[in-house]
Amino acid sequence: MPDDTWDAEVAARYDTPGTGMFAPEVLGPTVDRLAALAGGGRALELAIGTGRVAVPLAGRGVPVAGIELSQPMVDQLRTKVDDATVPVVLGDMATVRAPGVFSLVYLVFNTISNLLTQAEQVACFRNAARHLEPGGRFVIELWVPQLRVLPPGVRATVWHDEPGYLGLDTYDVVEQHVVSHHVHFDDGRDARLFRSAHRYVWPAELDLMAQLAGFERESRHADWTGGEFTAESTSHVSVYRLTERAA
Ligand SMILES: C[S@@+](CC[C@H](N)C(=O)[O-])C[C@H]1O[C@@H](n2cnc3c(N)ncnc32)[C@H](O)[C@@H]1O
Repeated sequence: MPDDTWDAEVAARYDTPGTGMFAPEVLGPTVDRLAALAGGGRALELAIGTGRVAVPLAGRGVPVAGIELSQPMVDQLRTKVDDATVPVVLGDMATVRAPGVFSLVYLVFNTISNLLTQAEQVACFRNAARHLEPGGRFVIELWVPQLRVLPPGVRATVWHDEPGYLGLDTYDVVEQHVVSHHVHFDDGRDARLFRSAHRYVWPAELDLMAQLAGFERESRHADWTGGEFTAESTSHVSVYRLTERAA
């Protein structure tokens, strides 16, 4: 795996206005819920990317700041809003401190899984806690690992299949790692491949990480509109509340 996953080429293609993760039916409920959870305070987005969520949230009057590892992703964000509107600190969301105190920290679109070790993921919870006022909330949107679809001996799944696109995952169940392969193609022989490496996390493991950082779980839903989280849910939105300062 290359370590420049979020390079200028990927950043330039990231936004898909009106469709996919930018579709109003996806983004609208996300922004509505986060605005309500901010409760009139300041919000911090870990891994803010090109501002898919932060820009509309700021447009709703919520003061938003960000932390982001990739300069090319921030360059795309800067085509939409300036630094005074959405300030961003460049660096690792597991360690970097953004100025100020927040009522809400959020980390969406499965991005905690971009941290490839359990230690880094725990550090990310602790870093979220460092930014929050007492009683503040940390919101995570994350997929549920789909290990039930892996028969013994099989280590890859196709999770999306449509004309011109295949999405497949390869699993290393010893290391708890997944590489997602996004293959775009047309009628010719050439295809374009985007790959991203993840450490998958079980919901219960996420709760334990939260506990280590001084949080307790306030809610878990299947989506941003408050759908019930069940055994069949493939994703979840989990809200944690800071109850104490972790040691
Ligand atoms: C799937 S995108 C999500 C971007 C944005 N949050 C959104 O919802 O559209 C993942 C983002 O995480 C960033 N990222 C990955 N690892 C990171 C880390 N350790 N610290 C900060 N940002 C990171 C990438 O650069 C990329 O912008």
